[in-house]
Amino acid sequence: MSIATLSPAIAPDHYRSVMRHFPTGVAAVCAIDPETGKPCGMIVGTFQALSMEPALVTFSVTRTSTSWPKIARSGTFSVSLLADGQQTVCKALSSKAEDKFVAIDWEESRHGNPHINGALGWIDCTIKQELDGGDHLLIVASVQEMQEADGEPLVFHGGRLGGFRESAAA
Ligand SMILES: Cc1cc2nc3c(=O)[nH]c(=O)nc-3n(C[C@H](O)[C@H](O)[C@H](O)COP(=O)(O)O)c2cc1C
Repeated sequence: MSIATLSPAIAPDHYRSVMRHFPTGVAAVCAIDPETGKPCGMIVGTFQALSMEPALVTFSVTRTSTSWPKIARSGTFSVSLLADGQQTVCKALSSKAEDKFVAIDWEESRHGNPHINGALGWIDCTIKQELDGGDHLLIVASVQEMQEADGEPLVFHGGRLGGFRESAAA
């Protein structure tokens, strides 16, 4: 008997409600669309390290995303790890605006991908696999090059954006 057969139906609202308790970082996945020559991108909270050797990263993308097909046809993209204070960058890149980059400060990496200035880390990647993830695609990508800067991360929790706060053990 499969696990799917044993599992009760999970109500999407309940699923979302439980997952709101799990904070994430905020990563901007960006590329230059080869069809237009313009930058394109989206925000993902599902970004994470997958493998050290070889260096692989992963994240999931909703199948309804209009930005992902543009990034996918590039075959290469960057991940900018957003810093506390970059809330407006997060809002712009998670919007459905025609030109999400109009007020974003960025520069092109030597791999041809947009790096968001002021971020804490930049990871240039090439797409390795697009796997089935239900109503999402699970993206696996190879790391080409990484850079980092000092600062505090932008954190997403319970539908809100903010900074990280360290707390002592009780
Ligand atoms: C904090 C945050 C995390 C998000 N994480 C994801 C994610 O992991 N996967 C995803 O497909 N969309 C995620 N989104 C939504 C997309 O960034 C965005 O709304 C969508 O890509 C915009 O539509 P477009 O792809 O049609 O341009 C997230 C949005 C925010 C604000």
